[in-house]
Amino acid sequence: MKLIDTLQDEHVLIDQVLGSLRTYVGELVDGTADPDDGRRFVAFFTEFAGHFHHDREERVFFKALVTDAKLPADRGPLRAVAREHVQMGEWLCEMTPLLQQQPRSEDDRVQLQALATRYSHALWRHIDAENSVLYPEGAERLRQCGIRELPDRPMSEAEAAAHEGGAALLVRYPPVEDGALTRGDGCFMCRAYGETCDGLEAEWWTEFDWEEFHKGGDASD
Ligand SMILES: [Fe+2]
Ligand SMILES: [Fe+2]
Repeated sequence: MKLIDTLQDEHVLIDQVLGSLRTYVGELVDGTADPDDGRRFVAFFTEFAGHFHHDREERVFFKALVTDAKLPADRGPLRAVAREHVQMGEWLCEMTPLLQQQPRSEDDRVQLQALATRYSHALWRHIDAENSVLYPEGAERLRQCGIRELPDRPMSEAEAAAHEGGAALLVRYPPVEDGALTRGDGCFMCRAYGETCDGLEAEWWTEFDWEEFHKGGDASD
């Protein structure tokens, strides 16, 4: 499905710009980064990751999963992921003032590092959960009800400018990975698992799925 491929390509860029954000924050704390670039990072995560990427996930992909595949919006993976979009937006707002100025005190430096770590860890794990569970399983559910493509939209001017700004930031602040974060695939790795979501099999599987699963098991016996 083309929209899913496009969203996955966007994950690659968002993933890298998160690593670039961590480099920037390290340099801002050391006094070697240009604080004006903070505005460019905020624009990338607000306009491109938020207004463009999360918006199409919710308004196109999740909407089709609810309307056509009859999956629940008020619990399980869709609710968990939508709540994370809201939470990450709030965390970005909290971090925004500190990103756009030279830290004025040791407290500022510690707080900025903590907020950037929290935000990047959450968004990296969010991307992993979508790539490994929500996208493939959601696309399969849509295929089962005859939907093979979904509509997409072009970027607005502000979203396109933020996208270009992100590419430039990658060159200026080479992305780093965070060895303190364990990344991986599957529901068990998701932040929502056991908190607001019991996992795909518990939340999405129907009588039909279990029947098919058991039939498949019998056939291979
Ligand atoms: Fe998302
Ligand atoms: Fe996403």
